Amino acid sequence: MAQHDDGGDNAAAGSAVVKSEPPQASRGTAVIASDAFENPGLPPHRLRVTDIDPQKDRTAERRVYTLFYLSIVGSILAVAFYVAFPIIPGDTASVRLNTLLLGLAIALGLLSLGVGAIYWSKNLMRGDELSEDRHLTRGSEETRARSIEIFKEGNQESGFGRRTLIRNSLLGALVAFPLPGIVLFRDLAPAADPVKQLEHTMWAKGMRLTHDPSGTPIKASDVTIGSVFHVIPEGLNSKADRLEEKAKAAVLLMRLKPEDLHVSSGRETWNYNGIVAYSKICTHVGCPVALYEQQTHHLLCPCHSSTFDVTNECEVIFGPAKRPLPQLPIAIDSEGYLVAQSDFHEPVGPSFWERT
Ligand code: FES
Repeated sequence: MAQHDDGGDNAAAGSAVVKSEPPQASRGTAVIASDAFENPGLPPHRLRVTDIDPQKDRTAERRVYTLFYLSIVGSILAVAFYVAFPIIPGDTASVRLNTLLLGLAIALGLLSLGVGAIYWSKNLMRGDELSEDRHLTRGSEETRARSIEIFKEGNQESGFGRRTLIRNSLLGALVAFPLPGIVLFRDLAPAADPVKQLEHTMWAKGMRLTHDPSGTPIKASDVTIGSVFHVIPEGLNSKADRLEEKAKAAVLLMRLKPEDLHVSSGRETWNYNGIVAYSKICTHVGCPVALYEQQTHHLLCPCHSSTFDVTNECEVIFGPAKRPLPQLPIAIDSEGYLVAQSDFHEPVGPSFWERT
């Protein structure tokens, strides 16, 4: 049992807890050392030059609002550079110049704002050192009233309300600062109306279906039952924007027994002898639907597992996609090659683009 060092019988028996300095404690006695750290307190307050010299005070004020104005200039310059030195596709020099100028202008805007704020707080705001005891997170009513009072005092002491040039220039800098971001992010949106862009692909009447990526035309006789072909339009590989076009026009070609296909009215002529072609672009969020289950005739999208039933015009039977894959009407030409009868009859890709 623990005892204090006040003369208890077992004090010297080595089992007591005493409060004493280590040198006096018996061997094996637990020692509760006194707090080793003294609160050093705050060093004496030193006045700054701006506290005692009004001339220095005005100079400091001038520097602060000059920095805030510089920040405004930086933000405006960023927008101006972005417009005046645009990125020209394929021109690396224009990318470098655009990036350099934007970086310099934004750095000027941010740096001036930060340095101005620090300079203001170090030289012009009240410099007294304060210490506050810890307290519960929610203060008492008195504390809350006091905090409002402190806030008002802060306003008074920082001169935020009084030093109108600093206040206004700071507000201006803060308002101007997001401008480059707004302009830059706006340009991340597609340049042209995406609905119009996705409404049409390069498929056209008489265009041959060719192997992806070789571009070799496909004969109907090559497509055996159960097989699946990844298809691109004829001539795609020679186009400058082939990747953009391929992203819309990629097609999957499959052959089923004609009696397995459930064809709706108006689509009777869209398949050739059980050979059907569907857009490869998932109607959920646009991943390539690349997995074909030969036995079940299901197409699977690997991204979020949307499953399309080829026997039922690729209707969705599972997953987040909301509409069937668009069908490409096909036929054969005089040489037996598979050709498109027309473009798709609806936009390919995510359903979102249809919501105009
Ligand atoms: S993109 Fe195909 S299921 Fe999500």
